[in-house]
Amino acid sequence: MTSSPTTLSFTTLPHPAPVPAEARAEALVDPKFGTVFTDYMIMVDYDSDKGGWYQAQVLPRGPIALDPAASVLHYAQEIFEGMKAYRHPDGGIALFRPEENARRLNDSARRLAMPELPEALFLESLRQLLAVDRAWVPAAEGSSLYLRPFMFASEAFLGVRPARQYKFMVIACPVGAYFKSGHSAVKIWVSRDYVRAAPGGTGAAKTGGNYAASLVPQAEGIAHSCDQVVFLDAVERRWIEELGGMNLFFVFDDGTVITPPLGTILPGITRDSLMRLMRDEGLTVREEPYSIDQWRADAHSGRLVETMACGTAAVVTPVGTVVDPEGDFTIGSGGPGQLTEKLRGRLTGIQTGRHPDPHGWVVRV
Ligand code: PLP
Ligand code: COI
Repeated sequence: MTSSPTTLSFTTLPHPAPVPAEARAEALVDPKFGTVFTDYMIMVDYDSDKGGWYQAQVLPRGPIALDPAASVLHYAQEIFEGMKAYRHPDGGIALFRPEENARRLNDSARRLAMPELPEALFLESLRQLLAVDRAWVPAAEGSSLYLRPFMFASEAFLGVRPARQYKFMVIACPVGAYFKSGHSAVKIWVSRDYVRAAPGGTGAAKTGGNYAASLVPQAEGIAHSCDQVVFLDAVERRWIEELGGMNLFFVFDDGTVITPPLGTILPGITRDSLMRLMRDEGLTVREEPYSIDQWRADAHSGRLVETMACGTAAVVTPVGTVVDPEGDFTIGSGGPGQLTEKLRGRLTGIQTGRHPDPHGWVVRV
């Protein structure tokens, strides 16, 4: 689909009543994930009859008008991204590999028959939002400003075909740890009755429908006192895919590491970054299928020493216990493992400007 032009100039509507500094400081102290929002938002409009992306605005954050026939409300033409802005020790602000999010948004757009957004416009949207919401980027350790770029079909039309009008928006919220438990090991529920994605489906796209489909198995997990759900492949129901919102790594006692291959899972940017960091350390990382039965057997034998969950929201989190209708098991001591801790330190060190950035991943804004 067409995607022009690559740059638009943004119009900023001043905020009539931004959150006062004192209330903002209070909101930044211990924000729960996704509950506190900044003052502004970005909105960029697309209309194929107007030649593509045509209007870019920085607006006070608030409700938006949407026709009840907007196709997103009926056929779920929607995609999103998740990324973070970090406060560096010198007070500056940085993004982590934002061009990868721009690329993945466009991969998702193609799968959902949506228009691509020029990478430069994606990055400029983030810069514009951070320019007005700069004070919302927290400085406390473990905190950051979570950015949520998303795009949806806004055309009022009930026929089933790709829409002709879309909105791309960015909202932001200061966040701390994703899990209530912080960085201690999490408990995972194995979904035996439901799958997340099938070959040829939308598993590799970051689209709302994948998350809607994960809610019932996630609720099952919560009912079993678990933090997250792990999905198996749709065909054989034995190969481990990923969690509801995170990728997985399996660490063995001989220093090798396995992660499920791409295809039906989300190609995580954290996943890719950790593979690079592990290979820098001389570890052998293989992208290959790993089964639930093998996972249990290797946990029991002690060959498997750690399992890590990773993603923008969760960073790097140890998996301690696996709750499975076919037999529960514990990984290692059930607590955080050495490699998990080391990698979280290395990754967050780079992201927050406390460690050198050998791969040029950090982009100051
Ligand atoms: N898998 C799923 C289903 C996700 O929602 C996420 C989070 O975005 C990830 C994996 C990890 O991706 P990333 O590391 O790019 O945040
Ligand atoms: C992210 O890590 O950015 C995600 O989108 C995952 C989601 C479960 C919050």
